[in-house]
Parts: sequence; structure tokens; C-alpha cells
Amino acid sequence: MITNRTFTMIKPDAVENGHIGGILEKISSAGFKIVAMKYTQLSTRDAEAFYAVHSERPFFGELVEFMTRGPIVAAILEKDNAVEDFRALIGATNPAEAAEGTIRKLFATSIGENAVHGSDSDENAAIEGAFHFSGREIF
Ligand code: CMP
Repeated sequence: MITNRTFTMIKPDAVENGHIGGILEKISSAGFKIVAMKYTQLSTRDAEAFYAVHSERPFFGELVEFMTRGPIVAAILEKDNAVEDFRALIGATNPAEAAEGTIRKLFATSIGENAVHGSDSDENAAIEGAFHFSGREIF
């Protein structure tokens, strides 16, 4: 059921710093099932479209440059209450404010380079998942 799914990306900073394995381990131990996953790199056009909601923000250019500078891991995760529980697992957008034990506290370096993305609503989880995966890539 769609309400039990969320979408995530392991961002270029975390990939560069060798944290793919550590982050996937946290995700699995927290009870999320990976129903789709790929290692890919966003083009400028992809990143501008994915983050269109932030296009008027002063950090938009920096965000697009960061998200396109290297590979990412994109995934759809399944669990009861997935969106809310995953946002709790990753912690606050700014790692300096993230709770102990959260993915951003453990692996992120700054508010811009914050290691992981997590959808903020069921509706966005569905949109973001469909942005990256076709139906036959979701299991
Ligand atoms: P996320 O919440 O995954 O999606 C929006 C992203 O914009 C956010 O992660 C950060 O990577 C980035 N972002 C949010 N606020 C700022 C900021 N003040 N400066 C730079 N980047 C930001």
C-alpha cells in the first residue's frame, strides 16, 4: 500500500565518504524493506526537476550542483508508517540539530550536504518513487 512506502536517496557526499553500507545497514535494522534500489547519477535536468519545489530558494543552484556531482543510491522503502518513521531515522535536515543515532547525525556533514533524502509526505513519496523507478523495477 502506497502509504507504507517512502523514497530515499543516499546523496553524493555520503557515497564519496564510503557510507553506502553503513546507511543501508541502519535502514535494514530499523525494519525497512527495500522494494526498489539503483545506483545512478542525476543530470542537471533531473535534479532541477526533482527539486522544483525549491527553485526559488537561495540555495537552489548549490543544491543542484551538489546532487549532480557524483553517484547516488535511490531506493523505495516499505514499512508501516514509512514516511514518518524514516524521517525520524534520518533526523533533522541540519545534522547539527539531528538527534543522536540518526543517520544524519552519524553520516552527514552540513545542512546542504546532509547524506540522505527522505520524502516528507505519502504523496511526495509516490511522486519521487515514480520519478526514479518504473513499475517493473519495484518488487
Ligand atoms: P532534503 O530535505 O533532502 O531536500 C532539500 C534539500 O535542500 C535538503 O535536503 C538539503 O540538502 C538542501 N538544503 C535545505 N536547506 C538548505 C540550506 N539552508 N542551504 C543549503 N542547502 C539546503
